[in-house]
Amino acid sequence: MTQNQSDEKMEMAKGKMKSKAEPSGSERTARIVELERESVIQTYTRQPILLVKGSGAKVWDAEGNEYLDFVAGIAVNSVGHCHPAVVEAIKKQASELIHTSNLYYTENQVFLAEELKTLTGMDRAFYCNSGAESVEAALKLARRATGRSETVAAVDSFHGRTLGSLGATYKPVYREPFRPLNEANFVPYDDAEALLAAVSKETSAVILEPVQGEGGVNVPSPGYLRAAREICDDCGALLILDEVQTGFGRTGRWFGKEHSGVMPDVMTLAKAVAGGLPMGVMMAAETVTDAFQKGDHATTFGGDPLVSAAALATIGAIKKEKLVERSEQVGSYLRSRIVEEIDALEVRGLGLMVGVELEASCPEIVNEARERGILLNATSEHVLRMVPPLVVGKEEIDRVVKVLAEILQKS
Ligand SMILES: Cc1ncc(COP(=O)(O)O)c(C=O)c1O
Repeated sequence: MTQNQSDEKMEMAKGKMKSKAEPSGSERTARIVELERESVIQTYTRQPILLVKGSGAKVWDAEGNEYLDFVAGIAVNSVGHCHPAVVEAIKKQASELIHTSNLYYTENQVFLAEELKTLTGMDRAFYCNSGAESVEAALKLARRATGRSETVAAVDSFHGRTLGSLGATYKPVYREPFRPLNEANFVPYDDAEALLAAVSKETSAVILEPVQGEGGVNVPSPGYLRAAREICDDCGALLILDEVQTGFGRTGRWFGKEHSGVMPDVMTLAKAVAGGLPMGVMMAAETVTDAFQKGDHATTFGGDPLVSAAALATIGAIKKEKLVERSEQVGSYLRSRIVEEIDALEVRGLGLMVGVELEASCPEIVNEARERGILLNATSEHVLRMVPPLVVGKEEIDRVVKVLAEILQKS
């Protein structure tokens, strides 16, 4: 394609072609689907809708269809789409200072670190730009702090797709094409004996999710994380809790670790932290922070003024609207409504992190639900994951459960 043809296509896709009539919503969608195929590397399987607007727990496509969003950008939009306080903070900060690099001091990242210390009980923050990067930072810190290089992770874990974090991510199909990797020793989740048997004097860290997300919303038994803490203490390994998905109220507590009362050495955060802007944070305990010396780790964008302003506004909104408490209450309503109305094999989760195991094909249910105005996600053939914005209402939950029950009755 020539440059002119490509520019023309782009303009048409944006609906800015003056000589032609405004494209309809379905034309815009078709054009973007085609352009995406030609110009974006094909690593994602996307749903065939073009999203153009969001507010609260709803999003709209280019054809004007409204959807109840029970995916929330994969547990990111916890305060809802385009929360006014987050939008305002972004606008204000964007007009003052967007990015500086970490060669200089900026205010918001320091204020945010203070806030995160209070919320997590950890001692210091390292900023990056995604969940995988926060895991990378944690794995590097564990190596530095212990002088060891092995990692123990859980079966069905998900920690990211960069080479380091991928080594701790369970699904063999994700890892195999990229070997050799520094791969973790994988042990069954929620099995303290297996964990004990797997650690050694070579283990730098045990990395666990307080509730497994991508693995199908798996909640461990009470006592598991405490046992993991003791095992790490005994063998001198760090305990990394990956709270990328469970953080910021998702499980009905500020952080998933609070259900067990366990304090890790390192916590990884991302997803919901900045209201939809990309941010990752590794929080570490005083006992290990000094293992990172100046120059040991860095990233250009980490904690820039704009994303930090969005994070401060997001945390402010979670507090003001009591979204952590709301997540617990509304989440238990969601689970009980599903149990009442749907013949599921299992309904599990904490707060508004809910997994529904079904006999039916979940990818097919996701397609049908979308056609009926509900966005859902399947973590596997038989598990639906629901991680709606924490602002979701009971009426919206009722609608989702009703539609799901109708779809399942038909199938
Ligand atoms: C627990 C957990 N850790 C790490 C990641 C990776 O985060 P990102 O996709 O932002 O790199 C995810 C993503 O789903 C996750 O759920």
